[in-house]
Amino acid sequence: MTDVLALDSAAQDLLFREARTANTFTDEPVTDEQIQAIYDLVKYAPTSMNMQPLRVVLVRSAEARERLVDLMFDGNKEKTANAPLVAILATDHEFHEELPTQFPHFPQAKDAVFGERPVREAAGSFNAALQVGYFIIGVRAAGLAAGPMTGFDAAGINKEFFRDGEHGVLAVVNIGKPGENAWYPRSPRLAYDEVVTTV
Ligand SMILES: Cc1cc2nc3c(=O)[nH]c(=O)nc-3n(C[C@H](O)[C@H](O)[C@H](O)COP(=O)(O)O)c2cc1C
Repeated sequence: MTDVLALDSAAQDLLFREARTANTFTDEPVTDEQIQAIYDLVKYAPTSMNMQPLRVVLVRSAEARERLVDLMFDGNKEKTANAPLVAILATDHEFHEELPTQFPHFPQAKDAVFGERPVREAAGSFNAALQVGYFIIGVRAAGLAAGPMTGFDAAGINKEFFRDGEHGVLAVVNIGKPGENAWYPRSPRLAYDEVVTTV
């Protein structure tokens, strides 16, 4: 079935079939240039009303890394301490301020649709979560492995890393070249017929 797709088989492997969630990494650094190239690719992936609520914090200093590791669940501490780069991915709950420039044919959406905080928090979190998925695929497109995690003290991360109260962490992602014994055995995936129905 792979020849049905427009994407060549090697790229299919790189992004999906052979890409794995890494739990260990080599020491090879991940540069800002790589992250910028990833962002400049995945920023084109779609969201509702072209909203762009995702914010990415690159945790580069030893001091910030230590604060983050303290807030990770025990099973996630070691890999977060040792990955070449760790990124905190969050929703900006004030994303609607950018809608007039990012969705110019409906500038009224900023207030008419997203004036109420609970409405924009729900829409922003959903769409930023989509962007988290795009980001992970972008990491793979750069020839790197991602180790996304949601096992952490979210309230603690929001307090430590987003002091304005306007952000909500969605995932912490370790990024780098996979190290020794980087993955657990591949778990099964649901088959097409278990997931897709036609009406
Ligand atoms: C949103 C998200 C949250 C995750 N949280 C954790 C986590 O807290 N700790 C962990 O060890 N793995 C975590 N994982 C890793 C998943 O278990 C892993 O991606 C999945 O089992 C697929 O593994 P594979 O890519 O090796 O097939 C998370 C993955 C995602 C996408």
